[in-house]
Amino acid sequence: MSGLRTLVVGFGQVASGLTRDARMAQYFDYASHAAVLAAHPAFDWQGVVDPNAAAQADARDTWGVPHCGGDLDEIIAKVRPEIAILAAPPGDRAKAVAAMPDLKAVLVEKPLNSPGTGERNGDGAALRAVCAERNLPVLVNYWRRADRLFQALAAGGLAEHVGSPQAVFGLYGNGLANNGGHLIDFLRMLLGEVVAAQALGPDETAMGAPITGDRHLPFALTFADGPVATLQPLDFRRYREVGLDIWGDGGRLSIVQEGLVTRLFPLTENRGVTGENEIASDAGIELERTVADSLYRMYDNLAKTAAGSAMPWSPLESALTNERIIEAILRSAAEDGARQSLV
Ligand SMILES: NC(=O)c1ccc[n+]([C@@H]2O[C@H](COP(=O)([O-])OP(=O)(O)OC[C@H]3O[C@@H](n4cnc5c(N)ncnc54)[C@H](O)[C@@H]3O)[C@@H](O)[C@H]2O)c1
Repeated sequence: MSGLRTLVVGFGQVASGLTRDARMAQYFDYASHAAVLAAHPAFDWQGVVDPNAAAQADARDTWGVPHCGGDLDEIIAKVRPEIAILAAPPGDRAKAVAAMPDLKAVLVEKPLNSPGTGERNGDGAALRAVCAERNLPVLVNYWRRADRLFQALAAGGLAEHVGSPQAVFGLYGNGLANNGGHLIDFLRMLLGEVVAAQALGPDETAMGAPITGDRHLPFALTFADGPVATLQPLDFRRYREVGLDIWGDGGRLSIVQEGLVTRLFPLTENRGVTGENEIASDAGIELERTVADSLYRMYDNLAKTAAGSAMPWSPLESALTNERIIEAILRSAAEDGARQSLV
């Protein structure tokens, strides 16, 4: 078979399990890495490494992967990977990359560091060092960066629809390092770089979150162009949302239901006050949803990056910036809400 010889390290939910969620399948044609790798002609999926026997059996039996096991070196020797998909939680990723001499590109899951390990000592810094030494391109799976609608919004569509942002609100849950990171990354994609971060409330344990030790707190981000976004955590044991609400000087854009629904609300004459305007928040139109193939498109970008014909849409440096912002938010909470400059 032609295609880039590919090895997946870590074969749990995001690598495979999410494909089995029937509700998710209604919206996402490719809900897991496995779903893309089984379909994408640019990749020759040869191996899976996971210490868990059930995960190995899933790779072998569900997906027909030829080389599956728990011993990284043994599977690397069989696969000689050109592409590594690092889909285990942070910890040993730099070591895994160092053990694969034939790599052309890497796709890694966020976050890059375990909460509390710090930017300098965490896995992210080690991964950056080993990849920089070999000039290896790295993509981090912030999937919204590969979504067609969100790319169009970031490339000028947002300004066209709503003008300059005046007020920005966001909701996240299941942890600051987890979905908080997604939201920070998405905001940077749409609004540009963050110049300051500030905690707006106490730093609490994110109860029920998948990353041990992850935090929940409300916070504010100031963007270089001026707007301020305030974000607040929700308890996902009640209900889920990862959403944004952007009030521009010419309209309002809401991205809700965790990215599945994007609505545009027009600026019109004020219905209650003569001579004034309003946003018709009861008259939104829905923009076309394009999440179905966003993970597939991330792999398109991965293949092109490996061939040297494209730049990563979601590069390692950008993902490290998200985590630097998260550290600043936590530092602000520890300093009683002191504003943290990021420039
Ligand atoms: N981009 C996204 O939208 C998204 C969505 C879900 C999860 N994630 C991220 O993906 C990562 C994995 O999350 P998950 O929900 O799939 O977790 P999971 O617990 O379902 O699966 C992780 C798998 O990795 C294996 N593993 C652990 N250490 C390993 C090692 N050293 N080598 C090989 N395998 C190892 C485990 O046995 C397990 O099978 C996390 O960092 C998570 O934050 C990202």
